[in-house]
Amino acid sequence: MTFEQDLKASVRTIPDYPKPGILFRDITTLLGDARSFRRAVDELVQPWAGSKIDKVAGIEARGFILGGAIAHQVSSGFVPIRKKGKLPHTCVSMEYALEYGTDHIEIHVDALQKGERVVLVDDLIATGGTAEGAIKLLRQLGAEVVAACFVIDLPELGGADKIRAMGVPVRTLISFE
Ligand code: PRP
Ligand code: ADE
Repeated sequence: MTFEQDLKASVRTIPDYPKPGILFRDITTLLGDARSFRRAVDELVQPWAGSKIDKVAGIEARGFILGGAIAHQVSSGFVPIRKKGKLPHTCVSMEYALEYGTDHIEIHVDALQKGERVVLVDDLIATGGTAEGAIKLLRQLGAEVVAACFVIDLPELGGADKIRAMGVPVRTLISFE
């Protein structure tokens, strides 16, 4: 098996979760397998391994797990981007598009310095609404978003292309049609 096939096999698919008709791509099985977890972290960060990254920004909730490991790997700080009302200090907030309706994500106002180079991390990109909101937040604080990394792409939903159109290089490791 190739690395990609191996990694794909370590993701569990749960039909009809959280709603009928959704095939939920569950990465807890990937995270629970030491080899898959390490390879996913190593591969996600590989294009930027030699360059200076000031901060890794992880999106709640599964982006925290991958983002924390990547931040350690590249010796950068970690910044959480959270759902509304979860962060304790003063926040900047951004509305983002859900499949039906909108919600808000937030970042601490002092989480980044202007000009800092940031890599955005999440487990999966679908419509790209969440990542788009996160990039707008990071840019509002003056960060340079050098890349957005996701283990899983759902290409039919067009999220990765949407993020590339914002001028942010996208790295994904596996796709589910
Ligand atoms: C999932 C996933 C991404 C987002 C991707 O999180 O972890 O953050 O959906 O979807 P999009 O590209 O269409 O915006 P979810 O909203 O389920 O939140 P959770 O991690 O808190 O469960
Ligand atoms: N977020 C959006 N779509 C998803 C899916 N199919 N599996 C897991 N997380 C998701």
